[in-house]
Amino acid sequence: MMAAVTRMESTLLGIIITSFVVLSFLANGKAAGITSTFLRSEYPAVDMPLDHKVFAVPKGYNAPQQVHITQGDYDGKAVIISWVTPDEPGDSKVQYGTSEKKYEFSAKGVVTNYTYYQYKSGYIHHCLVGGLEYDTKYYYEIGNGSSSREFWFTTPPKVDPNSHYTFGIIGDLGQTFNSLSTLEHYMNSAGQAVLYVGDLSYADRYEYNDIGLRWDTWARFVEQSTAYQSWMWSTGNHDIDYRPSMGEITPFKNYLHRYATPYLASNSSNPLWYAIRRASAHIIVLSSYSPFVKYTPQYLWLAEELKKVDREKTPWLIVLMHIPMYNSNDAHFKEGESMRAVFESWFVQYKVDVVFAGHVHAYERSYRISNIQYNITSGIWYPIPDKSAPVYVNVGDGGNNEGLAARYRDPQPDYSAFREASYGHSTLELMNRTHALYHWNRNDEGKKTAADAFVLHNQYWQA
Ligand SMILES: *[C@@H]1O[C@H](CO)[C@@H](O)[C@H](O)[C@H]1NC(C)=O
Ligand SMILES: *[C@@H]1O[C@H](CO)[C@@H](O)[C@H](O)[C@H]1NC(C)=O
Ligand SMILES: *[C@@H]1O[C@H](CO)[C@@H](O)[C@H](O)[C@H]1NC(C)=O
Ligand SMILES: *[C@@H]1O[C@H](CO)[C@@H](O)[C@H](O)[C@H]1NC(C)=O
Ligand SMILES: *[C@@H]1O[C@H](CO)[C@@H](O)[C@H](O)[C@H]1NC(C)=O
Repeated sequence: MMAAVTRMESTLLGIIITSFVVLSFLANGKAAGITSTFLRSEYPAVDMPLDHKVFAVPKGYNAPQQVHITQGDYDGKAVIISWVTPDEPGDSKVQYGTSEKKYEFSAKGVVTNYTYYQYKSGYIHHCLVGGLEYDTKYYYEIGNGSSSREFWFTTPPKVDPNSHYTFGIIGDLGQTFNSLSTLEHYMNSAGQAVLYVGDLSYADRYEYNDIGLRWDTWARFVEQSTAYQSWMWSTGNHDIDYRPSMGEITPFKNYLHRYATPYLASNSSNPLWYAIRRASAHIIVLSSYSPFVKYTPQYLWLAEELKKVDREKTPWLIVLMHIPMYNSNDAHFKEGESMRAVFESWFVQYKVDVVFAGHVHAYERSYRISNIQYNITSGIWYPIPDKSAPVYVNVGDGGNNEGLAARYRDPQPDYSAFREASYGHSTLELMNRTHALYHWNRNDEGKKTAADAFVLHNQYWQA
């Protein structure tokens, strides 16, 4: 009882403090950062058991499972539909149309399979469905006869500065009871597509054949959302699966077979980094675990991609990566320095609105700050207020089985605006070319409670 009262009080206090921070930040441009005093109730950070209903295999011979979709082109008129058939390859056909059970169109995809240690994957299908209309609901069916399954998705509005759109941002999800809570909270939000900031299944916490099996269970768990809306994927360290002790030395083997990205559409040479435009946003996805220093493919690609950004068409410029560039948690402190040193000056030059990252299992948001004056030979390492710099948001708080990262640097550095070690997800609602509403929702409360919320002013149109 005592604990409940205390928790409620600290929650109220948290909301009051948050409102204060938002107001004073907007008024003065800076304010002392907040370390939230909210204490979450402890659910154990353990994976859901294999017989949990979210992992259930769909009924019927060779029924498609692990269904997920992602944007399939540069501008949102295509999706890539992916699924797994367990018993035999079957065909990779998708039937689709704008009314239920009546399919005017069909598309044919490709099928692949692989082994990991002695695990043999199912038959993994990827089908590009293109030539779609914007802002339209499509129904699609995959599988054969009585084992077939139907789903639906809605295409985004056209690429336009005034297209209204809401993204969800999720990271480091895993497959625990906390992960389920995060997914359920997200599905109750108004999110229309997910920007995923890396570390999907945490299958690498297992050994041998269980690794492949836990990639399968994860995909069945998230299907309730991923079959119906596009999740834009990026990778984290738990997706590398480099295990020489098991004879597995191909990085991202599980991930790359299962999760397609539209990298060719942005002229990337590698599925691990790419860009898309969706509604009023230009979204750049980077790989923290691929070479990025000067002259590497990722570096050269990003230099070209940033030149293509047209803020008249897509006012919002969003970057995703796994390792945060700014983080004041003890966990992974300054791990993002190497990429920051290479890319931060571009983020300032091109006025990136917001950078989302994961990796640290807690929530944190920065002020607009930069550290581009610092280099190895001169200056002191300390970020300073910079109106052209992005806001950095860490949402590595999806709920995986490593638990929360609850120890913060003390005192709170003044680049850190708000931090709290709870599980949750964020949403970013792009209202128009100048205003976006940002929310972070912790899981311990109902869907409408934003533990951190503010108006994000567009960098280009506000300047
Ligand atoms: C498709 O279904 C038919 C009967 O419903 C069955 O004979 C056939 O083996 C199935 N094919 C595949 C690839 O699942
Ligand atoms: C892929 O599936 C085919 C057909 O079942 C099988 O012969 C082959 O060994 C599988 N390949 C791998 C790499 O598992
Ligand atoms: C990719 O390169 C091709 C050939 O140079 C070009 O026509 C196309 O516009 C490029 N696409 C993007 C999204 O940059
Ligand atoms: C570091 O910064 C100083 C002062 O701005 C500058 O003179 C120097 O060339 C820089 N060094 C490198 C390696 O960029
Ligand atoms: C954009 O949306 C905000 C918030 O709803 C509103 O205050 C503002 O007037 C809008 N601006 C334009 C240009 O429509």
